[in-house]
Amino acid sequence: MIVKNPLDLMLDAKNGNYAIGAFNVNNMEITQAIVAAHAAKNAPLILQLSNGARKYARTEMLIDIIRSMERQYPNLPIIVHQDHGDSLETCASAIEAGFNSVMIDASALPFAENIEKTKEVVDFAHSKNVIVEGELGTLGGIEEHVVVDEKDARLTDPEEAVEFVAKTGIDTLACAIGTSHGAYKFSGGCNVDVPRVEKLSQVIPNTPLVMHGSSSVPQQYVEIVNQFGGDLTGAKGVDEETISAAVDFGVAKVNIDTDLRLVMTAVIRKVFMENPKEFDPRKYLGPARDEIQKMVEHKIDVLRSGGKIRS
Ligand code: G3H
Ligand code: 13P
Ligand code: ZN
Repeated sequence: MIVKNPLDLMLDAKNGNYAIGAFNVNNMEITQAIVAAHAAKNAPLILQLSNGARKYARTEMLIDIIRSMERQYPNLPIIVHQDHGDSLETCASAIEAGFNSVMIDASALPFAENIEKTKEVVDFAHSKNVIVEGELGTLGGIEEHVVVDEKDARLTDPEEAVEFVAKTGIDTLACAIGTSHGAYKFSGGCNVDVPRVEKLSQVIPNTPLVMHGSSSVPQQYVEIVNQFGGDLTGAKGVDEETISAAVDFGVAKVNIDTDLRLVMTAVIRKVFMENPKEFDPRKYLGPARDEIQKMVEHKIDVLRSGGKIRS
């Protein structure tokens, strides 16, 4: 069910030393795979929709798919979340469509303006019993509306985080700790500031932390893509050990999109190259869906969210 108390789920995760996977959905097969994996593992989940996803499939279409999955697995707690909302209008339309959680990403603005824009969304969302994720600091990589070089990424400052949480009233905080979006996260080794997560947890102990850019870019899938005509040379993600350590220190929501794209692309490329005469979409979307489910079940093990559904 799309839960009425999303903050309780987030706090349960933080206090219970596990994280809820927040997976981006763009179509039916991806949504089915993610939900089936969580149902199989008895794990709470977050389905998140970016503006790009809402535009690609139409918000109502994705919400209807989620509602259909809700009927299929009535006991599965689901948070439906706006990923990287850019304005009050975006967040309000998400809430109108049935989301119970929104992100307002004003992290590219100066501190005072980020507070102002975030607080405006918090005031509106809380009046509708919807929770809000704010962002402080800058991730590297590419988001819909900003491009940031790895070297220009600004990590979240703990003192600013205390002020930001107090002045905005946000429920969860997306923090910049060295990750970036996409399949090319690090030019050198995996470089995530886990001690910063620990420090943030100490200074804002009641605010679950969110880790964006958390795909691990599994090399077995990169190799399949490269073997079957693609070129993802140098693709690199966050080590699973690093994700697990961040969860130990208070990360309660872990955002994953790139790995879903990677698995889908790897499977489809392989089917096409091995079966040049195949043109039934079910014959490549079906295996892609199965493999995504397998990958998501593995993520649930890494995040330790399996078996965490409250009775
Ligand atoms: O944060 C980025 C997410 O992966 C969403 O990407 O805006 O291309 O849907 P998108
Ligand atoms: P990845 O690109 O690492 O999957 O991150 C997704 C994300 O942070 C969505 O908000
Ligand atoms: Zn993100």
